[in-house]
Amino acid sequence: MFSLFTMPLIKVIFLVLTFLSTATFSKANPGFHFGWNGHGGNRDISFGLSPQFYQFSCPQTNDIVMSVLEKAISKDMRIAASLLRLHFHDCFVQGCDASILLDNSAKIVSEKNSKPNKNSIRGLEVIDEIKSKLEEACPQTVSCADIVALAARGSTVLSGGPNWELPLGRRDSKTASLNGSNNHIPPPNATIEKLITFFKRQGLDEVDLVALSGAHTIGVARCATFKQRLYNQNGNNQPDQNLEKSFFFDLKNVCPKSGADNRISPLDFGSPSMFDNTYFKLILRGKGLLNSDEVLLTGSVKETQELVKKYAQDESLFFEQFAMSMTKMGNLRPLTGFNGEVRKNCRHVN
Ligand code: HEM
Ligand SMILES: *[C@@H]1O[C@H](CO)[C@@H](O)[C@H](O)[C@H]1NC(C)=O
Ligand SMILES: *[C@@H]1O[C@H](CO)[C@@H](O)[C@H](O)[C@H]1NC(C)=O
Repeated sequence: MFSLFTMPLIKVIFLVLTFLSTATFSKANPGFHFGWNGHGGNRDISFGLSPQFYQFSCPQTNDIVMSVLEKAISKDMRIAASLLRLHFHDCFVQGCDASILLDNSAKIVSEKNSKPNKNSIRGLEVIDEIKSKLEEACPQTVSCADIVALAARGSTVLSGGPNWELPLGRRDSKTASLNGSNNHIPPPNATIEKLITFFKRQGLDEVDLVALSGAHTIGVARCATFKQRLYNQNGNNQPDQNLEKSFFFDLKNVCPKSGADNRISPLDFGSPSMFDNTYFKLILRGKGLLNSDEVLLTGSVKETQELVKKYAQDESLFFEQFAMSMTKMGNLRPLTGFNGEVRKNCRHVN
């Protein structure tokens, strides 16, 4: 008797309190969120995001995401990699707000045409398909930003990587930033110091940099992104001395000095569609594909060097840290409460 009466009441009180706290909180402090390190520090804990966010409003959310992913990945293995990368390129520009998905329009200058994204990002049709299935099941409920985050996690899991609890409740931006996309996503020829600076700007540290770079255990890169290493690494028409010789000759066969910029090579040729720690083992052998991969070891920063060696030795350590760093990246500056919106179509603001 007692529990029959009190259980629902407690639930009601809890729900009302939760609603009031998010509502009043975000109204009073638009865009505000807590981080353990205070302002300017890590922003990895955001009130308003919770793994149970769609528990009542759309409990089948993750099942729908996973069923679309399974079909898409079985047709094209690379889709998993492309979707994982999409989340990264979303989160580093205005936070994880699906700004990357907006097409050009009267009010939007699309991020899809930035230097890092143009002729490069993929998987957008898969996001569209997930969105349309979710709109059918739960109209105007699940945000595009959450779909991108769920697709990144699902792609990791379906490739054999770790799973993690994913905080949800991100809302979608009404703006995009082409300039942000050009300036906040690190280039593949960055030095280790530059890479650290790009990550620190987002509240991510050296550990996050090395672990998240491990996403390059799946997927491919175009010649354009690593050709400098083959022909003119330092402006003296010499190759990168850190490239292992046979790997260097293989890459030159794929990528001649001129033309063929869109030919591709696996980021982890050992197991290109398996999420594992081979990426780090290859770096130890001078077979990391991008300059940004190899400098984690050959750069002058002891901490990243040591982490590459640790992850090459211990796959479960890499998996654990990857899950933690993905959660941290996924929590970058989300829109919550009354900020942003839940788009009906991920390509356009409502
Ligand atoms: C550390 C700085 C990083 C740099 C400089 C970098 C750069 C690149 C470049 C140049 C490509 C190839 C793009 C192309 O050829 O069109 C690529 C692919 C990829 N990146 Fe990164 N990346 C970085 C970090 C990350 C992070 C943090 C993630 C995800 C957590 C990620 C996931 C991927 C994936 C999965 C691919 C393969 C995509 C596909 O095959 O479609 N990268 N990255
Ligand atoms: C573009 O981004 C850079 C780096 O964040 C910034 O310094 C610059 O002012 C921005 N330019 C415009 C036009 O917004
Ligand atoms: C990196 O590549 C860009 C062109 O893609 C080039 O302009 C720039 O000079 C390169 N940076 C370094 C440090 O080599």
